[in-house]
Amino acid sequence: MSRLIVISNRVSAPDGSHSGAQGGLAVALASALREMGGIWFGWSGEQTDQFTGQVNLQRGDGYTTATVDLEEQDVDEYYNGYANRTLWPLFHYRIDLAEYERGFAGGYQRVNERFADTVRPLIEAEDSVWIQDYHMIPLGHELRKRGCQNRIGFFLHTPWPPRRLLATLPEARELVETLFAYDLIGFHTAEWLESFCDFARLEMGADIDEEEGVVRFGGRSVRVIVCPIGIDAAEFREMADNDAARDTYEQMRRSSVGRAMIVGVDRLDYSKGLEERFAGYERFLLEHPEERKEVFLLQIAPPSRGTVESYQRIRNALEGVSGRINGAHADLDWVPIRYVNQGYPRDVLAGVYRASRIGLVTPLRDGMNLVAKEYVAAQDPEDPGVLILSRFAGAAVQMESALLVNPYSAEEISDAILRALQMPKAERIARWRAMAEDIEKHDVLWWRARFIDALMAAPLPGGAAH
Ligand code: G6P
Repeated sequence: MSRLIVISNRVSAPDGSHSGAQGGLAVALASALREMGGIWFGWSGEQTDQFTGQVNLQRGDGYTTATVDLEEQDVDEYYNGYANRTLWPLFHYRIDLAEYERGFAGGYQRVNERFADTVRPLIEAEDSVWIQDYHMIPLGHELRKRGCQNRIGFFLHTPWPPRRLLATLPEARELVETLFAYDLIGFHTAEWLESFCDFARLEMGADIDEEEGVVRFGGRSVRVIVCPIGIDAAEFREMADNDAARDTYEQMRRSSVGRAMIVGVDRLDYSKGLEERFAGYERFLLEHPEERKEVFLLQIAPPSRGTVESYQRIRNALEGVSGRINGAHADLDWVPIRYVNQGYPRDVLAGVYRASRIGLVTPLRDGMNLVAKEYVAAQDPEDPGVLILSRFAGAAVQMESALLVNPYSAEEISDAILRALQMPKAERIARWRAMAEDIEKHDVLWWRARFIDALMAAPLPGGAAH
């Protein structure tokens, strides 16, 4: 039986002590590691004066984590730089925010080489390797250069941008070429997969075998699959019923004083469409003055990547917009927006979701969006809230029974809020059921099994047999 080596920028320790990878993804990967045995490797989140490559091993419940510190320049150029100032905006269609600097590209390459040097000795001949997300695109290629003949899969948790946008990245072709070192690449949706294939075919002359789901380039072939991530639905349902969730539910009901709560929960990121969401909500207040004091919006937005300027700007902008809307519309006994800049445990959020009438999830672009799924999983089946969801989130493909909106349109957001408030209970239940069933069926364990089964089915590189 082959072990699994999971590699991602953030790592979650077996005892939960790392404040790194969190939530459903961490749970899914940890359970795969427990079943198959193996190692979770990544950045420790710590900075050191000089990179030493010294691995910090922690053995725990069924698997081991191996983390490595990075030096300051690495963190600046690789994490804050190329990952979060170049690839993240580009992959979310925001080339206006993307910064193209050779220093970032060089740092990204250097850190991926450092990761490869560090993790290579930990990989045994029979292991399968699963690399996660945009921080580590070239890592598989670097491992191959170091003689790694194992099966290596890559999963992208963000969108893949349209080819014309990707073509603006100076080293786009080199970066995409490195992906051909993998045996399998997974995307959340067919749209992201097709954009990848478009770039490979039209910009690089790769050959696409649509029937087999294989892309061939430079003597290598890589399988590509659509594999939408889910949540641990059973666990989340249980959590929505625990003491913390119930207490929060009661507290929110009391503080709502009979008003309908609209809730949004997002990392404070420009891709989440928060300014546009506030504008849509304000439009609703202006168009429907009779509804004004019947609702309020609770927006929870924990700050993220605060050393990056575009994140500082969005944070300032949101403080301005929420303050202006509250100043313009609030009354003695009512504030239209409760804007909260801190994170909460998932069971507390489950209680908030359950106490709300509407979940407002309107990213301008999102690889998947698990808040939408958790919102549905937390609802009371007898009296569920309504999900308003952006058409441009990967989740929209599986959640057609949500009220789907164009997040750039304040009018559509406003119309959807009114419709959700007026929706008869029978319709709310029918829509909720359709989504809840799919969330149960395509949960995170399904996602993980689909990817790993496809990886195991991939022919071994070089035809070697294990
Ligand atoms: C997104 C990315 C993840 C990342 C997370 C939090 O979901 O796909 O890879 O870990 O954001 O961002 P951070 O920069 O704090 O790790």
